[in-house]
Amino acid sequence: MISMASAPSKLPVMVLALVATSLMVASASNFYQDFEITWGDGRGKILNNSKILTLSLDKASGSGFQSKKEYMFGNIDMELKLVPGNSAGTVTAYYLSSKGATWDEIDFEFLGNLSGDPYTLHTNVFSQGKGNREQQFHLWFDPTADFHTYSILWNRQNIIFSVDGTPIREFKNKESIGVPFPKSQPMRIYSSLWNADDWATRGGLIKTDWNLAPFTASYRNFNAKASCVVSTSGSSSCSSKSASSASNNTAWLSQELDSGSQEKLKWVQKNYMIYNYCTDTKRFPQGLPRECAAANQH
Ligand SMILES: *[C@@H]1O[C@H](CO)[C@@H](O)[C@H](O)[C@H]1NC(C)=O
Ligand SMILES: *[C@@H]1O[C@H](CO)[C@@H](O)[C@H](O)[C@H]1NC(C)=O
Repeated sequence: MISMASAPSKLPVMVLALVATSLMVASASNFYQDFEITWGDGRGKILNNSKILTLSLDKASGSGFQSKKEYMFGNIDMELKLVPGNSAGTVTAYYLSSKGATWDEIDFEFLGNLSGDPYTLHTNVFSQGKGNREQQFHLWFDPTADFHTYSILWNRQNIIFSVDGTPIREFKNKESIGVPFPKSQPMRIYSSLWNADDWATRGGLIKTDWNLAPFTASYRNFNAKASCVVSTSGSSSCSSKSASSASNNTAWLSQELDSGSQEKLKWVQKNYMIYNYCTDTKRFPQGLPRECAAANQH
């Protein structure tokens, strides 16, 4: 479904020379500054002195927003508080995506559920227009009770999905064995709240209860570090060392999971992973995708 939001565009493909190794920081969380509400006819709102953004969904429409800028490699954090109570049938998507027919995309999607039943956190990675790399999780907390931080670390070595600093998924750069890796198209940040009760909850069995509308999800504390930022006008700036950025930490540009983080990742995958394309031999009768071979996972 996510891919529909990434329809080919007429924008020229931007090629960025990634010479800079410093970084740009967009923080202080000002939603007016960094994002625009793109659809939903007033159902998306920026509140509280621009510190909070909310999306809502009712029977007539959902809503969505996108970043004003595109990012090339990034270490991107956002706090989300998901639709509480009976959220069955609703989907809150939060993802990065480039444009064009061979787009790249990194997805978080939160599939709602009946009160007391767990949300499903669905993840996927597209490179050059091809996804089919789903992993799904339940969470070890109630994601509707409070804000939690969902992070995407994207650099040349890997893509790491984290929740409150705990890595839940790692997608390594396996270009050496012929697996395309997103590394040459800048991506924009998108989010939307919409109705998907034809498939979202228990495979579509449980429908959205419109008596409970509007459904609302909230966002705060956006924080992005990127090596290149492309503005709306199309001009790209790859950071050069400036007084303010020189003191900032650029370690994320080459960050990989250390052994402590590997342990945490294993803990999540053992206890909370409910679907992994890499073990779905029925789905790939011709053989699992290359990156799935045990020897290729590290
Ligand atoms: C907005 O700010 C008010 C006052 O600081 C606070 O009570 C309220 O919880 C905030 N709203 C959200 C959605 O956090
Ligand atoms: C909803 O709850 C059921 C029952 O616990 C669970 O099997 C399912 O994974 C949950 N999530 C979704 C999106 O259906």
